[in-house]
Amino acid sequence: MKPGVYIHIPFCEQRCYYCAFTVTVSREDRYEPYVRHVIREVELAGWSEAPETVFLGGGTPSILKGELIEQLLKSLPAGASEISLESNPGTLTGEKLDSWRRAGVNRVSLGAQSFHDEDLKAAGRLHKGSDVVADFAMLREHGFRNVNVDLIAGLPNQRIDLWHSNLDRIAQLLPEHVSVYMLELEERSPWSKKAPDIPEDEQFVLFYRAACERLEAAGYVHYEISNWALPGFECRHNLKYWTGVPYRGFGVGAHSFEKGARFWNASALGEYARRLDAGELPIEGREILTREVRLDEAFMLGLRRTTGFNIHTVAGELGIRYPSKWFARVEELQGAGLVAFDGNILKLTPAGWLVATGVTEDLLWPTLLSTSEATP
Ligand SMILES: C[S@@+](CC[C@H](N)C(=O)[O-])C[C@H]1O[C@@H](n2cnc3c(N)ncnc32)[C@H](O)[C@@H]1O
Ligand code: SF4
Repeated sequence: MKPGVYIHIPFCEQRCYYCAFTVTVSREDRYEPYVRHVIREVELAGWSEAPETVFLGGGTPSILKGELIEQLLKSLPAGASEISLESNPGTLTGEKLDSWRRAGVNRVSLGAQSFHDEDLKAAGRLHKGSDVVADFAMLREHGFRNVNVDLIAGLPNQRIDLWHSNLDRIAQLLPEHVSVYMLELEERSPWSKKAPDIPEDEQFVLFYRAACERLEAAGYVHYEISNWALPGFECRHNLKYWTGVPYRGFGVGAHSFEKGARFWNASALGEYARRLDAGELPIEGREILTREVRLDEAFMLGLRRTTGFNIHTVAGELGIRYPSKWFARVEELQGAGLVAFDGNILKLTPAGWLVATGVTEDLLWPTLLSTSEATP
């Protein structure tokens, strides 16, 4: 299968209180030199294969001038059928959207998080709920027919009625794709210094269940734990991450996966630029994926997809046999209503999605590799 390309744009107007991504709040005159460095990286990597998908992620790619987005995309071999760009409400202009269209962008992700100003303010977002609605309309006017909206459930003091009304707004706007993330308190985020008052675990269950019910009723297919799409609008780029297809990441801190190994770029902007100025690729680390890691990932990613995965395909690829103890564990989890298994396909049930991490750990312990016989 053809690879995907990810390009990281680290710039943001402000760091949101929950965010631990590789981002920087920098002066605007830093944007163009950064884009030059990314283009240099693509050249140095000798990347000549036409990707099937491209994802410009961040940070906030939408704060760049449109011409910089055009230059970035021109530096890659043409032919991608899905080109996504992450945007923050309030940073879109008609001029930028025209430019994105010229550059071939055909999927835009709008980081709404909520339609309510009190939620947005509490999370350190700069936009208002009305910006989301206005930007969504502008995207439609400019012909974008594949739009994703991101929401976060469980923001500080978020009330369930406001959450319900967020889901209602989605059902009215009907973007082709919706990502719903449960708030994570991340170590490197501003909130790691002073944790806010977030809803109790039981509230998160209610938020998630409400999303599952409301989005299904609005016609969405729930295809991954945090992702819903109108039929045919699943994100093909993210599907590559979830199904083990190779991808190449360019930009500061970007990760790549090729030929059974993962490698990643320097995460400090200065170091990233210095290495490229010296004519070197800015790769900082590399990990050969052992069978153990590949097994963990096959289970983790396979169980996040609502269609699950074929356990025999994974066993064949990794040269393992499942011990009888493991089947007994699957039966226990089936009895508890957390997984469904038909002898081939293993998947989480709706009750299982709520405790996905624990169930996945249960299925990997005692590790299959330590208890199974490796096939020759
Ligand atoms: C890295 S952001 C980039 C997109 C864009 N800058 C934005 O904020 O809209 C991608 C998405 O990750 C989600 N996200 C980031 N940090 C999170 C956290 N700590 N908990 C839950 N969701 C998070 C948000 O929904 C965000 O839209
Ligand atoms: S959530 Fe988005 S806008 Fe906020 S700091 Fe992170 S990447 Fe930037």
